[in-house]
Amino acid sequence: MTFNPLRERGIPLDRQVRNWRELDVTPIDPDHADPYTRCRIITMNGIEIESIMFSHHFARRCPDLGVRQRLAEVRYVEQQQQKAVNWLLPGLASVLETTIAYEQVAVDLTAWVARMEPDPYLRKAYEFGVLEDFDHLYRYANLYEMIEHRKAEKIVDQLTEVMPGRPTKMHHRHPVDNVREHYDREKAKPVSKLHALTIMSAEQQTMNFYMNVGPMYMEPIARQLYQEIGLIEEEHVTHYESLLDPRETWWEQWLNHEYNECYLYHSFMETESDPRVRTIWELHLNMELEHLRIAADLFREHDGRDPEQVLAPTLPTPVAFEPNKGYLRELISTQIDHTTLGTGYVQEAHERFQRWQEQVHDDVEPASERVIDDNRARSGEEYRLEIEGGHPLYSLRSH
Ligand SMILES: [Fe+2]
Ligand SMILES: [Fe+2]
Ligand SMILES: [Fe+2]
Ligand SMILES: [Fe+2]
Repeated sequence: MTFNPLRERGIPLDRQVRNWRELDVTPIDPDHADPYTRCRIITMNGIEIESIMFSHHFARRCPDLGVRQRLAEVRYVEQQQQKAVNWLLPGLASVLETTIAYEQVAVDLTAWVARMEPDPYLRKAYEFGVLEDFDHLYRYANLYEMIEHRKAEKIVDQLTEVMPGRPTKMHHRHPVDNVREHYDREKAKPVSKLHALTIMSAEQQTMNFYMNVGPMYMEPIARQLYQEIGLIEEEHVTHYESLLDPRETWWEQWLNHEYNECYLYHSFMETESDPRVRTIWELHLNMELEHLRIAADLFREHDGRDPEQVLAPTLPTPVAFEPNKGYLRELISTQIDHTTLGTGYVQEAHERFQRWQEQVHDDVEPASERVIDDNRARSGEEYRLEIEGGHPLYSLRSH
């Protein structure tokens, strides 16, 4: 079934506003929910936050009062959507449990996007980044065992493996080396634009989350680990946002944002296992169709082009949360020692990388290393969840 969001009718904007009762969603059950339902919630929260912040930035640069009022009206609804989505998360889960779920999103969403991305340069950006969030998952899982005495499989289940990826201490690069070449808005496939926007939004929310929750811990190792990984999420946002063509007009960017929201809500409506959550994806899709219509009208009027010229004619393959174990093992065995140089990738450490490493680490082992040693000392062994056999690299097998 093909679905063209430009041809579908949504809910009129004045009927999209919800009262307190409607906003007061019942959270998912942390012990029985499908881990991928939680991943979809975290993804859509990141998408809504990006749509809100994008709209604020647009409004700050837009001199037309009528457009600013329109942006404010749509943005209020985006805010209500963000509340309905993010409040599906249960208050019962600890910050660290939510953190582990955030990294599970980064792993399985980025891996899926990498597998589906048609452009080789963009695909490489996702393959490169996913090996780092994969390692973050392992570091946080060890922190979790150490300070909460629980195992990360309680959160990720058997869907995502937990073991070393590219070691976190190697993620600290010179900022210059985090800026990639952008796609060409005229030549890039519409699906490539959606992928870039999705991963950028997810990483941005992870960055925001660690910036805010990191200091809420008392344990020094936890505070330090959030600082360290928080700085890497800054690198990831720089890496992914630089893939988007900065020459896209504000109208075009708004159009792409609304289209991407339609794409993701439609995808999750198709793949959601929890019927109650599915009704929220469906409701929000019907709201987004109207946002898209509004953005398309303003695009025609102010950009002078036809939305069909820049958007996909039908929605691409639905975004799916599914295990990527074999794929990730393959990436680990081939790309673990990659780093970046300028806008490209190299296999060996270069001078600028070395200098940055020396400056940041200053001969002290970072928290990402100490958390493993500390947990090994306290729990007898480090935490891993290796489902498909030993670590793909002999040097990283546990002994
Ligand atoms: Fe939205
Ligand atoms: Fe991460
Ligand atoms: Fe990340
Ligand atoms: Fe929207």
